[in-house]
Amino acid sequence: MLRFDIITLFPEMLVPLYETGVTGRAIDRHLTMVNCWNPRDYTDDRHHTVDDKSYGGGPGMVMKAEPLRDAILDAQDATTLSPSKVVYLSPQGTKLTQHKVRELTLCGQLILIAGRYEGVDERLINEYVDEEISIGDYVLSGGELAAMVIVDAVTRLLPGALNCELSAVQDSFTESLLDYPHYTRPEVFEGQRTPSVLMSGNHESIRKWRLQQALGRTWLRKPEMLNNLRLDPERQILLREFIHAYEKNSTNVSD
Ligand code: ADE
Repeated sequence: MLRFDIITLFPEMLVPLYETGVTGRAIDRHLTMVNCWNPRDYTDDRHHTVDDKSYGGGPGMVMKAEPLRDAILDAQDATTLSPSKVVYLSPQGTKLTQHKVRELTLCGQLILIAGRYEGVDERLINEYVDEEISIGDYVLSGGELAAMVIVDAVTRLLPGALNCELSAVQDSFTESLLDYPHYTRPEVFEGQRTPSVLMSGNHESIRKWRLQQALGRTWLRKPEMLNNLRLDPERQILLREFIHAYEKNSTNVSD
């Protein structure tokens, strides 16, 4: 069981996680639990203040440390599942990768802090956060969507979460290559034919074609991924063929 505890001022944003698709089903199957903790419930002033002006001045508000700390401590007290990790979602964090997602599946409890406003008091991060994670080089108006991305990406790797276990294994990135293209009926869509090899019933040819497409797409779209790979002789040949065909084609086009 992997338990996600999300600390958020907007728990209603996370409702689709419980109700929909792979994440909803994983909860039904008792593979995961998702709980929300609202820092507003950890305030004792009349206005339930969770933010305050930034020391030093400037625009925007900062999330106060105490309500966040008390929410984290309650989330930690709510379970004996371990290891427990506290993650703060922010654009300043380490970029999320499939490797990191796989690492997070080993946790028993993941406490995800979704910040709002200009961010959270730095001392809360120093004292209570194990890791700061960004889901990409852009700025969201809060960490909730980023937390949902982590819940989704982690959940689908848990054994029993997907209806087809092979999907997770065969995914792009998992095999260190981008995915090959997929086709389904009809055979011809707006004049575009499905590649004939896929209709051939020859499983070995199909395997080779897919592997070649995966290699070729990686070379075209994310060549840096190939630098970290040692291609076996079959892959080297398939990629060489792909590059040769591609270069021949682009020469023809510019001629
Ligand atoms: N909060 C705001 N922007 C974010 C991002 N890019 N990743 C994670 N959390 C965020």
